Amino acid sequence: MPGGLLPGAEAPNFEANTTIGRIRFHNYLGDSWSILFSHPPDLTPVCTTELGRAAKLAPEFTKRNVKMIYLSIDSVEDHLAWSKDVNAYNGEEPTEKLPFPIIEDKNRDFVIQLGMLDPAEKDEKGTPVTARVVFIFGTDKKLKLSILYPATTGRNFDDILRVILCLQLTAEKRVAIPVNWKNGDSVMVLPTIPEEEAKKLFPKGVFIKDLPSGKKYLRYTPQP
Ligand code: BEZ
Repeated sequence: MPGGLLPGAEAPNFEANTTIGRIRFHNYLGDSWSILFSHPPDLTPVCTTELGRAAKLAPEFTKRNVKMIYLSIDSVEDHLAWSKDVNAYNGEEPTEKLPFPIIEDKNRDFVIQLGMLDPAEKDEKGTPVTARVVFIFGTDKKLKLSILYPATTGRNFDDILRVILCLQLTAEKRVAIPVNWKNGDSVMVLPTIPEEEAKKLFPKGVFIKDLPSGKKYLRYTPQP
């Protein structure tokens, strides 16, 4: 189970020091969608590229009412120093300001509570470091999606943005998202919707793919 939270679980309402001050998690989330990313330590190469990409994509997430927040097993002071490197990596002024906060977890309290430690990956002292977990919470603060990568593999932040589009689309419309979908592609009509109802629900048309089974379950509709 990635990261120790089950689908539908409520985001823990912890209090934490962060690069924007002390926060109570639920207050910070408000009524936005949100993504909590965990990282191995600060000042590590893959993480720096990840935070750089996240900073570049931040306006796209904001446009979609998504708040990002990071969790790394170092102090706020370390996070602020690291933020300068991230901005420099992006070719920006090396300031301490990033478009998302980073949570302090120097005693690993939160990563233990959230089941994010990777026993296979250790720091120079032999202590396990954090896996790259992604928790996406809906506006109801319930877990909608989790992803877990090992410390040695960077995540694809463009795909995380794509996944946000999928989650928001399926939360609003009675559709499902097919393999390798991109924004603007057709989506699928939920298999639980009867044919006549589907015609009314999707005025742009419902297109059925014939299959050897003869069952009409593979139904596409243009992206609503
Ligand atoms: C990195 O971010 O580069 C990294 C961190 C911990 C283990 C391996 C890679």
